[in-house]
Amino acid sequence: MHIAMVSAECAPIAKAGGLGDFVQGLSHELLKRGEWVEVLLPYYDVANLDAVENLYEIQPSLSVPHHDARIDCRVLAGEIGGVSVRFIDPLGRDYFRRGRIYGEPDDAERFVFFSRAVLEYLLQSGRPPDILHCHDWQTGLIPVLWSEVYKHSALAEMRLCYTLHNLGYQGRVDAPILRQVGLDPARLMHSDRLLDPGDDRLANLMKGGIVFSHFINTVSPRYAWEVQNTDQGMGLQSLFQTYADKFGGVLNGIDDAVWNPERDPLIPVNFGPDTLPLKVINRRTLRTRVGLPEVDTPIFAVVSRLDRQKGVDLIRHAIRFLAAAECQFVLLGSALDPAIAAEFSRLKAETDDSAGCRLVLAYDEALAHLIFAGCDMLLIPSLYEPCGLTQMIAMKYGAVPIVRRVGGLADTVHDANYSDKPFESRNGYVFDDPTEEGLEGALRRALGLWRRFPEYFRQLRVNGMRTDFSWSRPADQYRDIYAHVRSR
Ligand code: ADP
Ligand code: GLC
Repeated sequence: MHIAMVSAECAPIAKAGGLGDFVQGLSHELLKRGEWVEVLLPYYDVANLDAVENLYEIQPSLSVPHHDARIDCRVLAGEIGGVSVRFIDPLGRDYFRRGRIYGEPDDAERFVFFSRAVLEYLLQSGRPPDILHCHDWQTGLIPVLWSEVYKHSALAEMRLCYTLHNLGYQGRVDAPILRQVGLDPARLMHSDRLLDPGDDRLANLMKGGIVFSHFINTVSPRYAWEVQNTDQGMGLQSLFQTYADKFGGVLNGIDDAVWNPERDPLIPVNFGPDTLPLKVINRRTLRTRVGLPEVDTPIFAVVSRLDRQKGVDLIRHAIRFLAAAECQFVLLGSALDPAIAAEFSRLKAETDDSAGCRLVLAYDEALAHLIFAGCDMLLIPSLYEPCGLTQMIAMKYGAVPIVRRVGGLADTVHDANYSDKPFESRNGYVFDDPTEEGLEGALRRALGLWRRFPEYFRQLRVNGMRTDFSWSRPADQYRDIYAHVRSR
């Protein structure tokens, strides 16, 4: 089967969060199963081209309709670990030359252009894929464009799947932007099409992806339930109910080639469930790296985008609570929102000289690996979490996750005390209320076990390390979805 993945991110070329990991991990796993996978990305100036092998320019160049004119694009081809990658580079436009992936005032225009360019590329390439798998709001217009413009072209047989990674970002844009790609707002701005449920001046690109794709899914079964049945649907609940017959939830995996403590080249010492004592060396290196003293206390960590979604107020409370409990705390985080960035800069200035707390406000892939390998507990107090990868990475690296019972966190973390699972399946701490009390309860339980029952704590770590979080099962589920949409 020929599968084209269209996304704003793909690690290690362009990654801002879990979407990048997802596209890399699923693509590799599908390739292993003999599928032909092609990833389509914008040609960002920040792309890590060192990771791309055999990069060359495809001839002839691509010509993409744009308002009443056309924009010429270079298309570059390369590979990452055997997966084909295609980059689209608009000439004479700086759309993808902004020094970052997202956060620009014209993000909508940038990714609407990219969406049209992808379909033109597939049409002009003369080898349309069987499946076009789109991700998140940035590519939500692709299924709409396919249905409105390309359905009777050489792309007619292609089937579209759409994965929703985060309902917090729906691509709510001014309706006239649709004209940029030749779509008629008057035809599409209806409640059963692109009209935003909360504001009738706006087109909702994610809604377009939901309505016009052949199959849609979220990245965990629990989040799929939450978006249909609770306010986590963020205004789209009834839409998910309408399309329940083409909607599912597939739990993400993590890529074993990237996240495996037994082989990871970015950590000082490799270790696994049978060599867990070696983790101590990684912990020592982490302390040296961030300037924490070597004392007999656990290291709690956060590795996260700093966004309201991630429970930033609870993270701040945890810092205070853990300082009072004489624990160590390391945070690696980056914020797009200027207010959150300022809050954490202030907090960093206040805590830089403290005995046990270090905040690193940056995006740093190598440090992230060292933190997972060196920390004892990873805190994820999210308000919502479509899947979450860091709890799975933490477990793989022998760190115990402390999470809120939402979305994929609830699907993957089983409470040490309260789970109905047998002990060997329990792997972390889970709390319900997004309040200081809720969080403190879980922190106290985790700390109590670490201090009083080290052998049980060690066993919890091993339980997490032995759990299968690979892409194997999810890749099979996506293949079933692809086969299902092709058969209809
Ligand atoms: P989300 O996609 O919502 O950000 P996930 O848990 O799915 O959350 O994935 C986050 C990914 O981004 C993980 O691979 C994590 O290690 C990485 N990450 C998050 N923040 C940083 C950071 N500041 N530096 C390096 N890696 C980060
Ligand atoms: C999103 C979600 C996160 C998920 C990731 C990959 O960014 O916030 O929960 O793990 O996408 O699917």
